[in-house]
Amino acid sequence: FDGKVMVTGGAGYIGSHAVLALLDAGYEVVVVDNLVTGFAWAVDPRATLVEMAVEDPAVRQVIRDHRVRAIMHFAGSVVVPESVSDPLKYYRNNTVASRALIESAVEEGVAHFIFSSTAATYGTPQRVPVAEGDPTVPINPYGMSKLMTEAMLRDVAAAHPINYCALRYFNVAGADPQGRSGQSTVGATHLIKIAVEAATGKRGHVGVFGTDFATRDGTGVRDYIHVSDLADAHVAALGLLVSQPAESHILNCGYGRGFSVLEVLDAVDRVTNVAIERRFEGRRAGDPAELVADNRAILAALPWRPKRDDLDGIVHDALAWERKLAEMGK
Ligand code: UFG
Repeated sequence: FDGKVMVTGGAGYIGSHAVLALLDAGYEVVVVDNLVTGFAWAVDPRATLVEMAVEDPAVRQVIRDHRVRAIMHFAGSVVVPESVSDPLKYYRNNTVASRALIESAVEEGVAHFIFSSTAATYGTPQRVPVAEGDPTVPINPYGMSKLMTEAMLRDVAAAHPINYCALRYFNVAGADPQGRSGQSTVGATHLIKIAVEAATGKRGHVGVFGTDFATRDGTGVRDYIHVSDLADAHVAALGLLVSQPAESHILNCGYGRGFSVLEVLDAVDRVTNVAIERRFEGRRAGDPAELVADNRAILAALPWRPKRDDLDGIVHDALAWERKLAEMGK
């Protein structure tokens, strides 16, 4: 592989794990991150960090200076309920900013683009597990903001010499098993992060948002995937794009099984030996009942195989990172 991989959002949660996976696989990495939600200290020192917004036209110079051949684009806003209350923030940070970055990539002749898409593009699936060819009818602005970027990539790849892989993430959780990174987000909203914060005393209780969904126990069901497995999938996807430059792909990233909110909280209680207080509350805006991946496409397309498909293990790694954050005073 001649050149570097640019990782936008490499100072954030999933991006910082992708940086580790790329470095571990021998790639050279340049991170572009505006540090609005990410942290400079989360970027492995083997990578170069450029503090810049992805929509900045100066990204073109970074591509030239570092001979960037592929871009992994993680930077964006990720909180579903916030996208309902502030949709224009999502269309700005996820759609408009991505358009500018893709333009910089095309103008500088970047060959490969890997995009952080989401299961939220499906909306309320007609069937579960949901497959890539199923209808994409987002029920929140977050999902729509990502789907619009998928559409841009499809059209751009048809017109220019660039191929792409849109990875539709299900629910990402856990932390690097070696303790090098984890989720450090301030004001986190994601269930496992919230639960390990409660278990370590950073917050008092966990709200259970909705108990009347049509699921086995009435709470929302999600497909939780370990962040390090997800990071490995990106490295495998890059290999595929390089080996087949005329082909692009859309792939679900999940394990193909779901856990309810209560099942997740049971796992956290088990792993932490703490009975976290649960408060049953109303549904959150924009939440579907159940999202579980049909992952046959990614298993067929990539040599990637899940290594950490174990809810207790995911919680264990998330908890270890939460304790480390507390030790670091963060
Ligand atoms: N939940 C609670 N209490 C909380 C937080 C969450 O009950 O304190 C519930 C939610 O209502 C939902 C489930 O836990 O049923 C998971 O919620 P998260 O906020 O952890 O994640 P989301 O499913 O809303 O969204 C995540 C990512 C999206 C992605 C989506 C795909 O943030 O980017 O998973 O499944 F699109």
